[in-house]
Amino acid sequence: MDRLRITGGKPLHGTVAIAGAKNAALPQIAAALLSPHPVELSNLPLVSDVENMLCVAELYGAKVTRNAHCATIDAKEIAAREVSYETVRRMRATVLFLGPLLARFGVARVSLPGGCAIGARPVDMHLKALEMLGAEIGMEGGLIVARASDGLNGTRVILSSPSVGATETTMMAATSARGETEILNAAREPEVADLAACLNAMGAKIEGAGTHRIIIEGDTAWRAAAHHIIPDRIEAGTYAVAAAITGGALELVNARMENLAAVIQALEVMGVNVWPSDRGLVVSRNAPLRTADLTTEPYPGFPTDLQAQFMALACCAEGTSLFRETIFENRFMHVPELTRLGADISLQGTTAVVRGGRPLKGAQVMATDLRASVCLVLAALAAEGETVINRVYHIDRGYEQLDRKLAQCGADIERLRA
Ligand code: EPZ
Repeated sequence: MDRLRITGGKPLHGTVAIAGAKNAALPQIAAALLSPHPVELSNLPLVSDVENMLCVAELYGAKVTRNAHCATIDAKEIAAREVSYETVRRMRATVLFLGPLLARFGVARVSLPGGCAIGARPVDMHLKALEMLGAEIGMEGGLIVARASDGLNGTRVILSSPSVGATETTMMAATSARGETEILNAAREPEVADLAACLNAMGAKIEGAGTHRIIIEGDTAWRAAAHHIIPDRIEAGTYAVAAAITGGALELVNARMENLAAVIQALEVMGVNVWPSDRGLVVSRNAPLRTADLTTEPYPGFPTDLQAQFMALACCAEGTSLFRETIFENRFMHVPELTRLGADISLQGTTAVVRGGRPLKGAQVMATDLRASVCLVLAALAAEGETVINRVYHIDRGYEQLDRKLAQCGADIERLRA
């Protein structure tokens, strides 16, 4: 397994091209199976989660042609086959194939995704929504089996909490239901709105995506489509922290301020400067960092996917910072590893208390999940001496060429091939 070796203490300067959003690409690959016509997705990030999702689409019989950051998915000849637990276990997002396959064939079998490092991550809201649309849901040997032999019927679906995945599953299935579906308490993430834009390009009629109320017309007449995926706001936030934690300045090309309001507010509270450029955003820090008091919330609140990264930043701010994680029950896996770098962090239930200001010192650390891994990279960029991060495959799931992008901005970082 590859490792990253980083020697900290170098302020980063330069530009970073922000790639397409992984969490927009994954549901759109699943959505392509709704239609018998080809869907061309451009601005795809070259990350392993997207590769795996395209492979699963091919396992269902879709023809996928790749050209760098672009993929055309032709799902004319697909079947509602079963995909092995081994494939699904590696990536929870494969549950997003359930809605499209059920909508297309009236039956779908998808392995129940196991938990992952950040929590149990059930799919009960996905299944309840499909039942409200008329599906019968059963479990057979670890497989979710969904049936709707006489099709799905549009209805009002009220989500018990604004789940991103459950909103996406409901939206995709509803495009092929009879009549109109209204989703209330929908997730408002930009990736949900981008999925709706992709579905509308494919012929769907969806209004309100990005708000708590989404209306989907059923009986979609599908057509060939092309869609350009939005930039990755979590990648942009990650590199913003890289500029801040090293006391440098980076231009984040393609980053969009409108999708990063809570993140920019948090950066400014911590003493980081952020301003728009004609290509995206510039982030710089030349004054001492200030402490933070952050609570993760559904969009447009502070994103849980940036909690670990901001905790690394808070380790470098003199004083006590607080982090409350409200979305996942176990998203502090980075804390023991940050402690190995000299951080002083105590956990009290869903709150982490960070006593920052003590210099971080390089050490051997272990990556555990995607965002925890990149948090360790950020801390290593600020630490004195050398840090080696093991199990770098976690990072490759969601960050395109992270080591190369950082090296180009002056980081002393090297990928040690296994
Ligand atoms: C999406 O996951 C993202 N993944 C996650 O990003 C992100 O952290 C999360 O949304 C929250 O913003 C993708 O889009 C592929 P949820 P998702 O359904 O859809 C619970 C990353 O690092 N829940 O909004 O799985 C769930 O357990 C990843 O890029 C249920 O209880 O998130 C969690 O505690 C990590 N039942 C909370 O809701 C359900 O049926 C939020 O989950 C569904 C979810």
